[in-house]
Amino acid sequence: MGSFDSEIMRRRTFAIISHPDAGKTTLTEKFLLYGGAINLAGSVKGKATARHAVSDWMEIEKERGISVTSSVLQFNYDGYCINILDTPGHQDFSEDTYRTLMAADSAVMVIDGAKGVEPQTRKLFKVCAMRGIPIFTFINKMDRDAKDTFELLDDVENELGIATCPCNWPIGSGKAFKGVYDRESQKIVTFFDTQKGTKEGTTDVVDLSDTDAVIKEIGEAAYEKLTEEIELLDGASAEFDIEAVRSGKLTPVFFGSALTNFGVEIFLQHFLKMATTPLARHTEEGDVDPMGDDFSAFVFKIQANMNKAHRDRIAFMRICSGKFDADCEVKHVQSGKVMRLSQPQQIMADERKILSEAYAGDIIGVFDPGMFSIGDTVCAPKRNIKYEGIPTFAPEHFARVRQIDTMKRKQFVKGITQIAQEGAIQIFQELNSGLEEIIVGVVGVLQFDVLKYRLENEYNVEIRLEPLPYEHIRWIESKDVDVAKLTGTSDMKKVTDLKGRPLLLFVNPWSIQMTIDRNKGLELSEFARN
Ligand code: G4P
Repeated sequence: MGSFDSEIMRRRTFAIISHPDAGKTTLTEKFLLYGGAINLAGSVKGKATARHAVSDWMEIEKERGISVTSSVLQFNYDGYCINILDTPGHQDFSEDTYRTLMAADSAVMVIDGAKGVEPQTRKLFKVCAMRGIPIFTFINKMDRDAKDTFELLDDVENELGIATCPCNWPIGSGKAFKGVYDRESQKIVTFFDTQKGTKEGTTDVVDLSDTDAVIKEIGEAAYEKLTEEIELLDGASAEFDIEAVRSGKLTPVFFGSALTNFGVEIFLQHFLKMATTPLARHTEEGDVDPMGDDFSAFVFKIQANMNKAHRDRIAFMRICSGKFDADCEVKHVQSGKVMRLSQPQQIMADERKILSEAYAGDIIGVFDPGMFSIGDTVCAPKRNIKYEGIPTFAPEHFARVRQIDTMKRKQFVKGITQIAQEGAIQIFQELNSGLEEIIVGVVGVLQFDVLKYRLENEYNVEIRLEPLPYEHIRWIESKDVDVAKLTGTSDMKKVTDLKGRPLLLFVNPWSIQMTIDRNKGLELSEFARN
């Protein structure tokens, strides 16, 4: 136990995962509203203005010409200190989105009630599941016609393979949305379409056992449907088990409407109670106690060119133990160098705040003189902590890179290798071909443009990208496989990554299993552990 326990214990660091348009921005905004970090009440100027007050942080950042993927929002609520990590989801979905999840202790999964589980949610969920962090589900947009509630729960269970435990239950949806039934208190909280953007929603609370009052509030038909559903639910759903929640095996489910601000605060309160304090992180020598006195942190993201005028790089670190003090020296474990972190700051959506201290659970951004790599550890100089690396995640879009002016071969190789080392793109070469034929892989297509732009602007090299049809990549896990002799499918290509590890590219998803079946002992993985 260290001397800052109370500061660390009150921290909750999480990411919100969702498919674009499910309502992540709206929900974040409402969280901030409760935390008093923004104040829309009393100054509601229509939705458009209200939204721009804080969020679409990506838009704001773009307008200001700084990064598109840099934010963490910190605010206090009810004694908790909350860090929400931004997981860019629209066109700027990238490997950084996955890496950010490595810095979270839990995740809030937002699902559109009319759509159920969508592709991007599935991808992000997989990464959270790999880490075994707790996942809390908020089924949003109940003020619009939603799918049947049991169907939605089945969808989460079948698509994602996690058990569900509804904490509340919706009464109708769309025009017929009457509110939710809270299973623990056995009370009904009724829904009124409150003024958008305010936090003072008017709601009534009635006991389910008070039949007359309930019928008066929601009508007889809704009451009958609700009691039937509750009976079914009590018989069928998983028992609530906090240990199963904490290990990511069971997701508590809440229903609400972020836009009309219904069910958001109840969700936030339950979530904060159930979510974990900063988790211990693994090293080869065992876990490091977050409450320990000694500072330690790992780099999960490096952002180049945050400020066009300075061509700076910022390394984002998640503090894993102890307290960070800007005046103290730290050791960069990978190089053994002891130094002071330069200009530590908290990068928020709309400001950069210079920090003098921060605690386990927090995220800081520091100027990177070019020494940090993703996954590196910094810690108190007397310690030698080395956190396990951040996996490399599977890109989904591939292109062959053609250099337009072949005379500039050296700059080209230098540029593309550096950009790949920063983690913005991954580069591959055909088996036994050297850097003659370079294939680039990205998680989000925007990174193709970033690569082209940066090569032109920073290295003065022009390229052309020829799209390739591959969509699936697998690292070869089994050690004793002769890659040259592997028999695959006709749509398969053998390549190696920057570290010389062999991989397979596939056009069709079913080819993956066929290749495993055809080669005894072959093990493939969607992540590469570093
Ligand atoms: P995202 O960050 O997950 O991409 O979603 P965002 O919050 O931007 O929400 C996407 C759209 O869904 C927005 O509408 C937003 O107002 C709407 N929305 C979010 N939560 C709810 C909800 O609970 N109920 C309903 N009915 N709508 C919701 P938009 O028209 O795309 O944006 P705007 O122009 O209205 O701001």
